[in-house]
Amino acid sequence: MKHYRIAPSILSADFARLGEEVRQVIDAGADWIHFDVMDNHYVPNLTVGPMVCEAIRPHATVPIDVHLMVQPTDRIASDFAKAGANIISFHPEASDHIDRTLSLIRDHGCQAGLAFNPATPLHYLDHLMDRLDLILIMSVNPGFGGQSFIPEALNKLRAVRSRIDAHTAKTGREIRLQIDGGVKLDNIAAIAAAGADTFVAGSAIFGQPDYRTVIAAMRQQLVA
Ligand code: DX5
Ligand code: ZN
Repeated sequence: MKHYRIAPSILSADFARLGEEVRQVIDAGADWIHFDVMDNHYVPNLTVGPMVCEAIRPHATVPIDVHLMVQPTDRIASDFAKAGANIISFHPEASDHIDRTLSLIRDHGCQAGLAFNPATPLHYLDHLMDRLDLILIMSVNPGFGGQSFIPEALNKLRAVRSRIDAHTAKTGREIRLQIDGGVKLDNIAAIAAAGADTFVAGSAIFGQPDYRTVIAAMRQQLVA
């Protein structure tokens, strides 16, 4: 039985009541808080930075999973580590030195993840599986919540799942496989079947009046 994680993206939360939204979604069963950082440079949108991460830290009794859609990566990654992030992922195209950025994140005591856009090739994984705690597969182009799931992401998940399983068989070390973008109640089972164990969902959760009902229904899909 896999240890599935559901990570609501606060991109779709009410920013005017962010602390309360974070508490409510954790009460409703969220395993992680997914924190989307967009810089209006690497992606065409602008969200929030380390100060907001620090502000929600006391409200978040679960890991804060920071998804950096920013370029450059390194200084802001350090700032998020200091602001209380637990997991920090970045996009390989946005880093000048991927291995260095991964080390920097881990040296701060955080877990490190690499994020793949829909058309980013998986060869970036070739020499760094042992440096990763998480692999994030984007199933939309990064920048906005509420987009439709790109089905090709399922093939990518299957490919990464076999690489992770081979790595785990060899080393005993696990790597989480996260999907991000367009995850809904009606596709989460197929996404899990393709190998994901960690599910980001923004609009599917925060777009509903009762977070507990939708998170419970998602878990139900994962055990069914
Ligand atoms: C997109 C972000 C996602 C997004 C997911 O760039 O990385 O985390 O918030 O939102 P939904 O679940 O609405 O697609
Ligand atoms: Zn994200």
